[in-house]
Amino acid sequence: MDISVKLGMLKLKNPIMTASGTFGYGLEFKPYGRLEDLGAVVVKGLSLEPRQGNPMPRIVETPCGMLNAIGLQNIGVEAFLKEKLGLLPWKTTPVIVNLYGQTREDFARLADILSREQGVAALEVNISCPNVREGGIQFGQDPVQAARVTEVVKKSAGSKPVIIKLSPNVSDVTVIARAVESAGADAISLINTLGGMAVDIYTRKPCLANKFGGLSGPAIKPVALKMVHEVCKKVSLPVIGLGGISSARDVLEFILVGASAVQVGTATFTRPDRVFSLVSEVEKLAMELGLDSWNDFQGTLKN
Ligand SMILES: Cc1cc2nc3c(=O)[nH]c(=O)nc-3n(C[C@H](O)[C@H](O)[C@H](O)COP(=O)(O)O)c2cc1C
Repeated sequence: MDISVKLGMLKLKNPIMTASGTFGYGLEFKPYGRLEDLGAVVVKGLSLEPRQGNPMPRIVETPCGMLNAIGLQNIGVEAFLKEKLGLLPWKTTPVIVNLYGQTREDFARLADILSREQGVAALEVNISCPNVREGGIQFGQDPVQAARVTEVVKKSAGSKPVIIKLSPNVSDVTVIARAVESAGADAISLINTLGGMAVDIYTRKPCLANKFGGLSGPAIKPVALKMVHEVCKKVSLPVIGLGGISSARDVLEFILVGASAVQVGTATFTRPDRVFSLVSEVEKLAMELGLDSWNDFQGTLKN
């Protein structure tokens, strides 16, 4: 079966993408598989200036996933464009740049810079990071702010599609989804990490230097699946589902509830080749289910 998908203006060879922050700048994963085989590569969130991120420790394992408080460490947009983008196979695989700003102006400037780059296929806007003091989640929890960021990014992004990445740390994610749809988003991705913490009874201290972090991995898959399902019913934009995906069955579950594509995040930490092997596994499972096309399957969950 042809497993390619259309994501608005983007055509992907298959629905499997990497999740921002879990795949570096892509190049680090060349020893583990062919980037060209992926649906798209989503790179680590970029800011205008380089960021050091939060102090360590900033990762803790949990029984069913992990907590991180990296704090959006990155090399900055200019260094990425100069040193990394040209080495990625952007002619054959869409490279999606995830971006983060502390103010609306930052988001607009980043979108403007990236709009001029031929190798950037789309922008993914992180309005949902729970681990930074300024920006991030404050935009993602308020529909008015979420819509305003979407508007400014759309204005500056030229012809590049704009994907808005939503936070699960809200009472009704569909309200935010509808707000960004009305503000002109081209697609939505969800979910980012869920706020969490871990403590040590011996030191009586939080395990993360930042105290709180974002939970990801298998523990959050049921939450993500529900939110993707709800959002797909309420908006007509393409939705990219993520959160705890690690098997072909997980991928098909997200497509069944309505997602057009998926991203693989924390699974990459336990198996750096996982995202690559999933491509053929998804094709095989689709054939086993007797599917002729994604249209027969996407969003066909029965009540
Ligand atoms: C170490 C780490 C760093 C992350 N950095 C980013 C980031 O820079 N931008 C972003 O939008 N999401 C970031 N995320 C969130 C992931 O892209 C993803 O939304 C989340 O981990 C849920 O998917 P998963 O359970 O498959 O990991 C990060 C997640 C982790 C674990």
